[in-house]
Amino acid sequence: MAIYNLGSINADYFYRVPHLPGPGETLAAQDLTRGLGGKGANMSVAAARAGARAIHVGAVGKDGLWARDQMMESGVDTRYIAILDDTPTGHAIINVDDAGENTIVLLPGANHAILSETRASALAEASPGDTLLVQNETLNQAETAKTARDLGLYIAYAAAPFDAAATAAILPYLDFLILNEIEAAQLTEATGKSPDALGIKDVIVTLGAQGARWISGTQTRDFPAMPVTPVDTTGAGDTFTGYVLAARDHGLPMEQAISLATRAAALMVTRHGTADVIPDLKDVDTARF
Ligand code: RIB
Repeated sequence: MAIYNLGSINADYFYRVPHLPGPGETLAAQDLTRGLGGKGANMSVAAARAGARAIHVGAVGKDGLWARDQMMESGVDTRYIAILDDTPTGHAIINVDDAGENTIVLLPGANHAILSETRASALAEASPGDTLLVQNETLNQAETAKTARDLGLYIAYAAAPFDAAATAAILPYLDFLILNEIEAAQLTEATGKSPDALGIKDVIVTLGAQGARWISGTQTRDFPAMPVTPVDTTGAGDTFTGYVLAARDHGLPMEQAISLATRAAALMVTRHGTADVIPDLKDVDTARF
């Protein structure tokens, strides 16, 4: 089986700062590093490192060939990443403080210019039972989900960053919804319904250091987080999502998929960076917590 991921690709610029800047504040960073990121790219890399066949559907500008190549080196199928002539690659300015907390400013760039032809060509080779994964750093999520559902794919959605209109549009097509506590509250405010009341087969609410909650029908199950000291939480949720869907795609029951994803996300928060440092299956299997 395969995971088709309509997702963003960003250049992540990480600024190490003593604290997150407030309004009007000028602050000197202690360090700057650049790496591959974007919620979509992170999820594709996580799924590939978890052993899935991850097919990324997206776009970069001519300045983003390195990002596409890095995804390919991570095991992602990059045939449906278009190189656009006159649009820059998306980028993110990420401030990370000493406690590992962050703030992120995004420029969507090519992520908002993914061609309908690229999406159609990718889905034309999908088979029933494959997964379509989408987040909110691209456009046309609901339209793509509808096409994929008609083709018999399992539709998975990470409602991040939260966008009320995009989320409302895609809800009718979902088999799987993953979101954090803040996004869950935003969803409830926007729809008047809590995530467990939406009739979606599998809902996962990630709870940071408290772990994750899985809701399926009338059943709810909590999964505790691993005890780790975080240095950078950026991309941990993306790692969790990529891992849980890869494990499901391999036929693991959801409980086992979530346990594996919990370990992968725990390892991820002990590392600085995003896609470059997403752990592979061997790291996750041998990690001691
Ligand atoms: O979730 C982390 C990601 O959010 C970063 O890689 C950044 O690019 C933004 O998309």
